[in-house]
Amino acid sequence: MSHTQNPIAPGAIAPLAPAEVSLTQVSKSFGRGTDRVDVLNQINLVAAPGEILAILGPSGCGKSTLLRLVAGLEVPTSGTVLLNDSPVVGVDARCSVVFQEPRLLPWRSVSGNVRLGVRNSQSTNEIQSWLDLVGLGDFSGYLPKQISGGMAQRTALARALIGHPGVLLLDEPFAALDALTRMQMQDLMVKVTAQIGTTVLLVTHDVDEALYLADRIVVLGERGQGIVTTINVDSPRPRDRSDSTFIPLRRELLALFGVHV
Ligand SMILES: Nc1ncnc2c1ncn2[C@@H]1O[C@H](COP(=O)(O)OP(=O)(O)O)[C@@H](O)[C@H]1O
Ligand SMILES: [Mg+2]
Repeated sequence: MSHTQNPIAPGAIAPLAPAEVSLTQVSKSFGRGTDRVDVLNQINLVAAPGEILAILGPSGCGKSTLLRLVAGLEVPTSGTVLLNDSPVVGVDARCSVVFQEPRLLPWRSVSGNVRLGVRNSQSTNEIQSWLDLVGLGDFSGYLPKQISGGMAQRTALARALIGHPGVLLLDEPFAALDALTRMQMQDLMVKVTAQIGTTVLLVTHDVDEALYLADRIVVLGERGQGIVTTINVDSPRPRDRSDSTFIPLRRELLALFGVHV
């Protein structure tokens, strides 16, 4: 019997190994005494390997803090954060983060910035493949000041992915982009996630973005309130932005933010 050992074409990107993310009774406070702020309170949350989980919630409720705990950039006050059953201790190489701002080094080219995400010598040859995947194949030599905001975020995405993260943490990555560019980036995410299969935690304040991209949407309440709702979005990707099954879900989500449609 013959097996196809390597169905991935040379130069193409092989799928990554997605990790499970598990938070158990996770609480996080900042400050002491009367200055103490309880941000996250006994959060229980599991993202399955390969799941795209969107996290919605009002400003200041702790969304970024939650991502920072998974990345190991913060330590929980109590509770445990696990990736594939092993605890997150310190900044964790199994995670990559993309922020709202691309955070590129201005004196480095697009490919030079992507190279910053390389975690082992093998992946230096992959830079062009990742740039091709995010649609920047012809721009590797450009400087950040020569490219658009959307292209800068594509660069940040390639820099995150070249580290082969088991978990990709996206903190409002498209919030600063204009509406059309944002939709193009969302379409890019559909393509990229289908190909690489990594687990994604996507913080967004955009209900439609969550409905378009996520397998599941977790809504946090006001600071300290925890998870108020979880919604499954069952339709396969790529999705139709005007899918009528989204209408009641959109209404339910917006109502949680005091918007009644
Ligand atoms: N390092 C920190 N020190 C003190 N307070 C912090 C720190 N990081 C976040 N906070 C506070 O925690 C709360 C939640 O912040 P954040 O997670 O950034 O919220 P979100 O991303 O949902 O807008 C805010 O009140 C913020 O001021
Ligand atoms: Mg935030």
